[in-house]
Amino acid sequence: MAQSPRTLLVTSALPYANGPIHLGHMLEHIQTDIWVRFQKMRGEHCLYLCADDAHGAAIMLKAEEQGITPEALITAVKADHERDFAGFLIEYDNYYSTHSDENRELSETVFTRLEQAGYILQKEISQLYDPVKGMFLADRFVRGTCPKCQAENQNGDNCEVCGATYLPSELKDPYSTVSGAAPVQKQNTQLFFDLPRFEQLLSDWLASGAVHESVANKLREWIDAGLQPWDISREAPYFGFQIPGWPNKYFYVWMDAPIGYMASFKHYADQHGLDFEQFWAAGSQVELHHFIGKDIVNFHGLFWPAMLHGAGFRMPTRLHVHGFVTVNGAKMSKSRGTFIKASTYLNHLDPEYLRYYFAAKLSKGVEDFDLNLDDFVQRVNADLVGKVVNIASRTGNFVHKFGGRLTADLHQPELVAELQAAAARIADHYEQGEFGKAIRDIMALADKANQYIQDQAPWSLAKQDGAEQQVLAVCSTALNLFRLLALYLKPVLPALAQKAEAFLNIAPLTWADANTLLGDHAIERFSNMMARIDSKQIDALLAASREDVPEAAAAAEQAPKSAQPDTDEADQHISIDDFLKVQLRVARIVNAEAVEGADKLLRLTLDVGEPHTRNVFAGIKAKYAPEDLVGRLTVMVANLAPRKMKFGLSEGMVLAAGPGGSDLFLLSPDDGAQPGMEVR
Ligand code: MSP
Ligand code: ZN
Repeated sequence: MAQSPRTLLVTSALPYANGPIHLGHMLEHIQTDIWVRFQKMRGEHCLYLCADDAHGAAIMLKAEEQGITPEALITAVKADHERDFAGFLIEYDNYYSTHSDENRELSETVFTRLEQAGYILQKEISQLYDPVKGMFLADRFVRGTCPKCQAENQNGDNCEVCGATYLPSELKDPYSTVSGAAPVQKQNTQLFFDLPRFEQLLSDWLASGAVHESVANKLREWIDAGLQPWDISREAPYFGFQIPGWPNKYFYVWMDAPIGYMASFKHYADQHGLDFEQFWAAGSQVELHHFIGKDIVNFHGLFWPAMLHGAGFRMPTRLHVHGFVTVNGAKMSKSRGTFIKASTYLNHLDPEYLRYYFAAKLSKGVEDFDLNLDDFVQRVNADLVGKVVNIASRTGNFVHKFGGRLTADLHQPELVAELQAAAARIADHYEQGEFGKAIRDIMALADKANQYIQDQAPWSLAKQDGAEQQVLAVCSTALNLFRLLALYLKPVLPALAQKAEAFLNIAPLTWADANTLLGDHAIERFSNMMARIDSKQIDALLAASREDVPEAAAAAEQAPKSAQPDTDEADQHISIDDFLKVQLRVARIVNAEAVEGADKLLRLTLDVGEPHTRNVFAGIKAKYAPEDLVGRLTVMVANLAPRKMKFGLSEGMVLAAGPGGSDLFLLSPDDGAQPGMEVR
């Protein structure tokens, strides 16, 4: 660990090659990418490896369904995955596939070594078998009637109606989801990895601090409950690698998937002249870091380290485990439009918004992670646009007004030194995976920088005669602060940092640059670096996500008639989701005036808690005098599409009761409500 530079291999879990990348995956890859970029900025020798997880029955069946080969399916999916990850600025050193020659070879090596060391067992077991399709069935390919509550069409191992759990063999009227046939029990020889023999090794490894305490506790619980041999073989038909010496048997997908990490490295190493053994042999000094979700800690915290050790390879240095992404407080849902695919997000929003939001909320803990879309908009706009970019936009032009060069003669070097001194602390947060702490630290510094500019008011100074040097000294101070903030944010916001580097006319920032200052130096003209998020973009994203799921809609249409509500009743009611589409907000009327040429309308200027006020035309002139309205609070529809009127753009609608004319009553919230509050 102490060697400098360190050498690190870093991975994200390998996404399955049977579906699109969604925002849950993105949390993991953004988290990993930030950590890797940070390590590289520090000058460490760090490689980021990933791949698609291309094997298994699910992929085989999906390809069959589409009438293509599994190879064709995984090739197409991999191209989509790589495009989505690139869209989010994820920078792998190698993105590969588990269906590769390197992985086949390494999987065979691992298996053969385990076999020679006596860690592979053979056992006769009885399993459910689809006699029509001619294949053994994993639990999730069996459905039937719940033995407890008799609900039909339930999962192979648990009932969604009463919550009971059971064995697939206990289901009533079981059927195979592959062919519809009733499964039968069939005896078969399977190969097992003798996990219980690694109990001591795993306990020691956990004690070494390789995983966060809460995850270690979970893993210890499993160890204490007694480890079982792990079934690593699957019968044909299967899409995967054949097990050497066992015709008709394939490696279980979870056996060759983590070996895919090694294979991705091998592919890279062969092209770049690196020594495979130096990285993977037992005793290697290279650090190995896996970023994974909490659902797959058993594979990475038990099977994988044991397999590596048993086959004479090194073990992982650390598992970085994260929780699950929820959207607006609930599990991602196709019907609410919150099952958001990476590609759909990218059609509507800048990837750095999400990188920033995820970073701001990430810690080394494993709590679930809520993407609250209102909070998302608010934070990105307030922090990135309102605080960080704002520093450059408020000072850059004054430098150009007075010659276009910064001065080495800073107005307030102590403040710059204070920001420089934060480098070590922020680096420590990044290293620990406490990205939220790093962001809070950086934003507190951004607040100081903004306060400084506010106090010095270069826009006023610039109007005074002979204050040129003073203006340059202030703006040079501010832009040195901006440069440091861009540097500290660079692991999270590489594109913004690149724009800052272009504007400041400097080489790509590394962490060591925190020790230096920008002196007498020509800079480019400022041009905007990041746009605000408009809440309309979020609405469009949710609408598009809803449309992404024709399967969900089709399933609803095919629901049995009895499950559909009586049409009369359905006409009178809207769902809560329909209601929530209308965004109602408290608004303060900051100005009201008559509109020339319109005898019913008032022009209202509304403060809705946003950086800009809104302009709304309201037909309330017959009842209200403009001067009576100024200062009072009301409620507006904030997400109504703006409407172009003869008199200008109307950006919303205020709410009133009554038939109209002078019989009209503008709504008001109770005391204490603030502009911008949501009404629901
Ligand atoms: N193919 C296996 C991993 C093999 S690693 C040798 C797999 N694939 S997955 O596509 O289902 O998940 C990939 C990663 O995405 C996992 O780490 C998983 O935890 C993560 N996530 C999937 N959905 C997620 C959320 N909703 N939220 C956060 N992460 C989630 O498992
Ligand atoms: Zn049940």
